Amino acid sequence: MRHLLSVRDLSRDEAVGILDVAEDMAAVATRAVPKLPTLRGRTVANLFFEDSTRTRLSFEAAAKRLSADVITFTAKGSSVSKGESLKDTAQTVAAMGVDAVVIRHGASGAARTLADGDWIDAAVVNAGDGTHEHPTQALLDAYTMRKTRHGDASRGRDLEGLRVTIVGDVLHSRVARSNAWLLATLGARVHLVGPGTLLPPGVAGWPVSTGTDLDAALAGEPWGEHPDAVMMLRIQSERMHDAFFPNEREYTREWGLDEARFARLPADTMVMHPGPMNRGLEISSAAADSARSVVLDQVTNGVSIRMAVLYLVLGAGGRKEGAS
Ligand code: CP
Repeated sequence: MRHLLSVRDLSRDEAVGILDVAEDMAAVATRAVPKLPTLRGRTVANLFFEDSTRTRLSFEAAAKRLSADVITFTAKGSSVSKGESLKDTAQTVAAMGVDAVVIRHGASGAARTLADGDWIDAAVVNAGDGTHEHPTQALLDAYTMRKTRHGDASRGRDLEGLRVTIVGDVLHSRVARSNAWLLATLGARVHLVGPGTLLPPGVAGWPVSTGTDLDAALAGEPWGEHPDAVMMLRIQSERMHDAFFPNEREYTREWGLDEARFARLPADTMVMHPGPMNRGLEISSAAADSARSVVLDQVTNGVSIRMAVLYLVLGAGGRKEGAS
């Protein structure tokens, strides 16, 4: 794998392969065993033009647990404030000697622009580009679903038949986009639910069903069976312009996983959230902190997935051989 830019570039076998490599990395990721020497002598640059806690720190932990060196750029406090472009910023960091660039940027397509621009000679990993994609989030979500469902018998499996309901601000969510496509590739069935104003105009072309009634979805729409996983999305206030039709109180009443809705879920339905959570808005603390919540498992599994991705773009076959 030369780069990881979009889950839509992955076949079922490639996606399952990444989940399996993440299984191999899990003991190191969780520090049950010491770090691996696999990427000794390699340097990973984290270029974060947008804020992040989970993604930035887990890429850093992943690289270090594979013995890579890490340099981190955050736009705040950088020469971006002086007008420096993405190209000049990337080339400046690359001139210090980097083998992989992990990029988060507010512009949809920024990661592919960096990879296709012939600006730098480094593997590029998309850590979230605008409202477009967040591939490692979808991979860690799929890993978490597979592990929660199949435990130690996960290896080699896809998510055939799994029912996943994704709720909320789909319009602005790169997490929802990447999950919709990756989960479909892995054989899961995906239902998107939210206010009509927060469902994207192009959603008819996605491999999903859609609805606006959360109570109906939690009761089994459209499958006639409860969802196996309910993924609550963050309301992205920072990306709202005129799109947010309901006010916060209406939103919580109609689309929030409040205590009453949470109490109606079957005991084996996973409660997921990519974080950061707006507690009391899209998800109640009763749901987020429950035994059914896998929110912190998602965070833990993110290190395994990011180790797998860095290993595959840098370690297995090697970036310089140009494997794709
Ligand atoms: N899920 C996610 O991308 O979180 P951060 O913005 O904290 O990285």
